[in-house]
Amino acid sequence: MSLIRSLFAVKPVEASLTADDSLRRTLGLKELVVLGVGAVIGAGIFVITGQAAAEHAGPALTLSFVLAGLAAALAALSYAEFAAMLPVSGSAYVYAYATFGELLAWFIGWNVVAEYLLAVSSVAVGWSGYGVGLLKSLGIEVPAALANAPLSFKDGHLELTGALLNLPALLVVAALTALLYRGTRQSTMFASVVVALKVIVVVLFVVCGLQYVDPSLWHPYVPANQGGDHYGWAGVFRAATSVFYAYIGFDAVATAAQETRNPQRNVPAGILISLAICTVLYIIVAAVLTGLVPYPQLATAEPVATALAAHPPLAWLKLLTQVGAVAGLTSVILVMHLGLSRILYSMAGDGLLPTFFGAVHERHRTPHRTTLLVGAVGGVLAAVFPLSLLGDLLSMGTLLAFATVCIGVLVLRRTHPNLPRGFRVPAAPAVCTLGVLVCAFLLAQMNLGNWILLAAWTTLGMLIYIAYGYRHSLMRRRG
Ligand code: ALA
Repeated sequence: MSLIRSLFAVKPVEASLTADDSLRRTLGLKELVVLGVGAVIGAGIFVITGQAAAEHAGPALTLSFVLAGLAAALAALSYAEFAAMLPVSGSAYVYAYATFGELLAWFIGWNVVAEYLLAVSSVAVGWSGYGVGLLKSLGIEVPAALANAPLSFKDGHLELTGALLNLPALLVVAALTALLYRGTRQSTMFASVVVALKVIVVVLFVVCGLQYVDPSLWHPYVPANQGGDHYGWAGVFRAATSVFYAYIGFDAVATAAQETRNPQRNVPAGILISLAICTVLYIIVAAVLTGLVPYPQLATAEPVATALAAHPPLAWLKLLTQVGAVAGLTSVILVMHLGLSRILYSMAGDGLLPTFFGAVHERHRTPHRTTLLVGAVGGVLAAVFPLSLLGDLLSMGTLLAFATVCIGVLVLRRTHPNLPRGFRVPAAPAVCTLGVLVCAFLLAQMNLGNWILLAAWTTLGMLIYIAYGYRHSLMRRRG
């Protein structure tokens, strides 16, 4: 009985609020929005969109973006309430610790670790695709054997592709690891420039592309089903699960709370503003993309560049788009990498991971060892696995974390009704319940192979908890 009780004992909210201040508070609202947009707009819109339209949704891709955006928005409201209440590093993990107790907090924390790790590696794979395309535009050919994953994942089986490794993906992770080792401030300044470039390219695509849209390409809006999740409503829903990937990342804003000035106000605002900007851009980009070329032609590694190349007067924008995509994807990797180091730092602070993860560099004030480890593991995953597998697993882990955060808001409203809340989810019972349902609906679209991999990851996490976290948890040792 006491074992059960200790596994579900919650970490007092007040304890989370007295977290140490060893990380510098350098971020304001503007930096947080840059961080959020930097984390969100990436391989989802630049790469996965094309496949989703060509294989699953057709022109109704816009609807898939609306559905996935709904899941993200409902979760974002819950994140905003939590982030205003518990403005410390660690995000969903910290929220779960305060509401559901240690075991579930570990489960969610472990999932969020997977989420960020997979984001680093999957976006690096997308980066490699656009980087290789850019080099090709400049007349430099990268051998296919050095720019593709040696493994692919089909029908639940890993297969060899004949390629050696995805070298550009590995190199970009290594370079950004070196940058982050030196410190957040330099990194966010670098990110501002990159995010601006990315947004400019997306806006130029919309403004210039709009004039060449052929509305007849949007008919029929939902193409007839051709079996399974190939078009029809089944396809629209399947595409929503794929493009949900595009919305992941706004929670990185919450992970930077401990480095933010006035976090009770700035963190919720940062989350909601960055998500709103991305949602509007996505829906318009999806409409323009499917209006520029017939949707079956969008299944390429660079669908945005493909759509531009189909209209000679827009050819000038293709090179710029490739540069913007490479830069934009770089910022996503950077923010995800930063977020993961902070989450591991937070878990180590609670004694659930060895002190190795909590070490802060004396001069740079960064969790330098964690940064190196994340770089090494993320780089290897990026070098070896394909985007489709990494992306699907990323979506699953995130949907689980999102659903938990939505439930957590309701739990904390009951257990701590009087806690000061800088932001409150409007009509919380309805909004949070809907959030859980939409996340569950999207999760249900995933195939068995992915569920098995998720189960394997969870088992590994539980073994680590039993072997280390359970015995070293600071909360339990303090009694
Ligand atoms: N939302 C991020 C992207 O689309 C993961 O790259």
